[in-house]
Amino acid sequence: MAYLLGIDIGTSGTKTVLFNEHGNTVASAIGEYPLYQPQIGWAEQDPEDWWKATVDTIRQVLSKSGINPADIKGIGLSGQMHGMVLLDKDGNVIRSSIIWCDQRTQEECDQITEIIGRDRLIEITANPALTGFTASKVMWVKNHQPEYFEKINKILLPKDYIRYRLTGEYATEVSDASGMQFLDVPKRRWSYEILDKLGIEREWMPEVYESQEISGKVTEQAARMTGLLPGTPVAGGGGDQAAGAVGNGIVKPGVISSTIGTSGVVFAHMDQVSIDPLGRVHTFCHAVPNTWHVMGVTQGAGLSLQWMRNNFGGAECELARFLDIDPYVLMDAQAEKAVPGCEGLIYLPYMMGERTPHLDPYAKGVFFGISAKHGRNEMIRAVMEGVSYSLRDCLEIIKSMGVPVSEVRASGGGGKSKLWRQMQADVFNISITTINTTEGPAMGAALLAGVGAGVYSSVAEACETAIKTVGVQHPIEENVKVYDRYYLVYKDLYHSLKDNYLKIAEIQRELS
Ligand code: XUL
Repeated sequence: MAYLLGIDIGTSGTKTVLFNEHGNTVASAIGEYPLYQPQIGWAEQDPEDWWKATVDTIRQVLSKSGINPADIKGIGLSGQMHGMVLLDKDGNVIRSSIIWCDQRTQEECDQITEIIGRDRLIEITANPALTGFTASKVMWVKNHQPEYFEKINKILLPKDYIRYRLTGEYATEVSDASGMQFLDVPKRRWSYEILDKLGIEREWMPEVYESQEISGKVTEQAARMTGLLPGTPVAGGGGDQAAGAVGNGIVKPGVISSTIGTSGVVFAHMDQVSIDPLGRVHTFCHAVPNTWHVMGVTQGAGLSLQWMRNNFGGAECELARFLDIDPYVLMDAQAEKAVPGCEGLIYLPYMMGERTPHLDPYAKGVFFGISAKHGRNEMIRAVMEGVSYSLRDCLEIIKSMGVPVSEVRASGGGGKSKLWRQMQADVFNISITTINTTEGPAMGAALLAGVGAGVYSSVAEACETAIKTVGVQHPIEENVKVYDRYYLVYKDLYHSLKDNYLKIAEIQRELS
């Protein structure tokens, strides 16, 4: 039996999963690490923490499964996108990684737009300058930490740093590279025009592969640390969204996914490159050769409910510990007691600014319409509904681009909640399906490795072998009607509050 290993370098931890060639999970392990927030809106991680978690989880998976490492035919990498890892000439990390949800770089985004021109930037990179993307983070280092900028010899993404530690190769692949804003997305190669104009040396960029291609082999040193066999092939893999989409079978037109993790993402496959001229959704290369994908991103999706749990869910957490269940199960039960639409209580999930549809790093979370009648049940449900409205914003734009939508697959931690899936069916007015696996990005990365290693003949064949639909929830008509009406108010609220978000940012700047 052939085995495949998927490694996903997430924001809260690294998940390593061993699959057999049928796509069944054999063993998995998670290693967590901290997120540093030195200032409001900043987010950094230590790449060494990712590496330690990778080594540790590989060792755990090998020991739990008891398989012979020689039977692992390929390793696939996936990970949080956009994070900036700077290496010096000796391959050492220069400063901690500024990661995807960091919002400090609005001035650098303005600078990039000024230098390249907004239309040209969208034409080449398929996206406007965004605070989350790698280019503005590198420009921030150039502007604020020139002593570090001078030392740069390579710029890598989080999972590609792990590739470097595993294989010694400086390499990336098209799906994750798309989120750096240095790639010519339609042509699937680095844009020398962008690099040259921003003063980024061409040699600093790693080799770009297609996602299923083999990018290197496990070195003797990495093998000694992890227990893997030296020479095991490591495929390109994918950014967490593209790899997650492969792991959900989103590799053909019509079937799209709605994923609620820390962020929320509505993701669709495209045979041809298509770009939203307003830049409200991202167009990136897909992890399937010669195809692209479009995705809308809600910055604070699962993060909103997690915030609610961490700050106001003490009682649920305690009871959950006692009952040995997940606190979210208890929160779901409470939310279920509130009626759809929460009797006028609406939540805006802009806790980490927003990407789709507003591209606004200053936007903030809001509970609107609180009355004395509202209680805990409504507050929890409103958070879940607000996130669903925000995902509908993503879906509406994707549909307006002419992308066909016949089925929406729910995934991510939020996709495990039956209530949240029904809410999405009702808010989107479309059936929501679930599949036989919840391994997402790790699964997608492993399937890509399987294609690279010759276990499968194509990404489509890999998905057909491993992924099956197992459940469906249809929209409930009376809920659809209620949500349709509140959604219009939800959409309006951002515009009513926009100027005040800026005022708050200004006050914070002055006071800090
Ligand atoms: C995608 C994105 C997130 C991160 C973290 O654009 O920012 O999916 O990759 O998960």
